[in-house]
Amino acid sequence: MVNPAEVDAVVLVGGMGTRLRPLTLSAPKPMLPTAGLAFLTHLLSRIAEAGIEHVVLGTSYKAEVFESEFGDGSKLGLQIEYVVENEPLGTGGGIANVASRLRYDTAIVFNGDVLSGCDLRALLDSHSSREADVTLHLVRVGDPRAFGCVPTDSDGVVTAFLEKTQDPPTDQINAGCYVFKRSVIEAIPTGRALSVEREVFPGLLADGKRVCGYVDSSYWRDMGTPEDFVRGSADLVRGIAPSPALKGQRGESLVHDGASVAPGALLIGGTVVGRGAEISGGARLDGAVIFDGVRVEAGAVIERSIIGFGARVGPRALIRDGVIGDGADIGARCELLRGARVWPGVQLPDGGLRFSTDV
Ligand code: GDD
Ligand code: MG
Repeated sequence: MVNPAEVDAVVLVGGMGTRLRPLTLSAPKPMLPTAGLAFLTHLLSRIAEAGIEHVVLGTSYKAEVFESEFGDGSKLGLQIEYVVENEPLGTGGGIANVASRLRYDTAIVFNGDVLSGCDLRALLDSHSSREADVTLHLVRVGDPRAFGCVPTDSDGVVTAFLEKTQDPPTDQINAGCYVFKRSVIEAIPTGRALSVEREVFPGLLADGKRVCGYVDSSYWRDMGTPEDFVRGSADLVRGIAPSPALKGQRGESLVHDGASVAPGALLIGGTVVGRGAEISGGARLDGAVIFDGVRVEAGAVIERSIIGFGARVGPRALIRDGVIGDGADIGARCELLRGARVWPGVQLPDGGLRFSTDV
């Protein structure tokens, strides 16, 4: 058995979050509000709940905002340190770069954009009882091509690591959470950018290191695309996705303090309404992620979309599967469908953009 208080956690949060632009132009992906909290809060609260105390955040893009949000970590019952990469070092470089901050012989490394219900204590115990050099949390997904494909043998030992291959031999993928022996981290080359997925893991396998897989079927989602961000947020609101940071307040929708929702507005599908937002009568929000200070006018319809800080959605506008940047202004009756993205501050005049000729 591993004592979690003698395990370091490392969280990689240095990516640019390009697939979530334009929202990630102003905030790094792990800091985007999800069910009313910075996304990373959900992961950090799981780490704390498992009994882990020491966390190192490997930051790069917009590094300063992490420390202003989480400080020394004491509010979450953690001791948080920050290690900044002035130039992004990649996932492998980011891990190697925190080696000097590790206190114990075992480290658990997380991608900072994953929402998961994995039992971290069971993962740590599996790593120690199987005497692995590295243990990877693995999950099965419908389409493995966007992930690291990780086949294992009949003993659950990893046989290959194939990052984002078009021809995956199995539906079993890297879930973005790894337990390392500290000595393995110390042996990763420093001083240059490298990928843990493309270089470090294949190198460990070639060197005959014991890399084990830990497969489970708990909740799992990478929040890196708008579709997944919307789904993950709705799952948190509805209590489908676990988070120790959300106590009690789960349901069809979540409305934060200082927001006003007119009678006659319909909020369903795990919709979340941020602080100070105003939702007018007749608006219909289904699976919508509404950041703080947004105004949604009468009769507007928002489905499976993210509306950035302080944006306005005009009367009877329709937004479906879209992303609206901070402070954008969507005129009355505009239609934005299927992956539409509006950049921050852009103003669309009333009726100025439609996907149909219906009035
Ligand atoms: N410190 C640091 N430095 N962190 C980084 C860097 C860097 O240069 N580049 C990326 N990260 C962080 C990101 O912020 C994110 O939290 C994590 O590393 C993973 O990066 P993503 O860009 O989200 O990778 P991905 O989703 O395409 O693929 C990864 O995750 C999948 C599971 O969600 C890979 O690990 C796949 O193998 C895996 O299946
Ligand atoms: Mg990701």
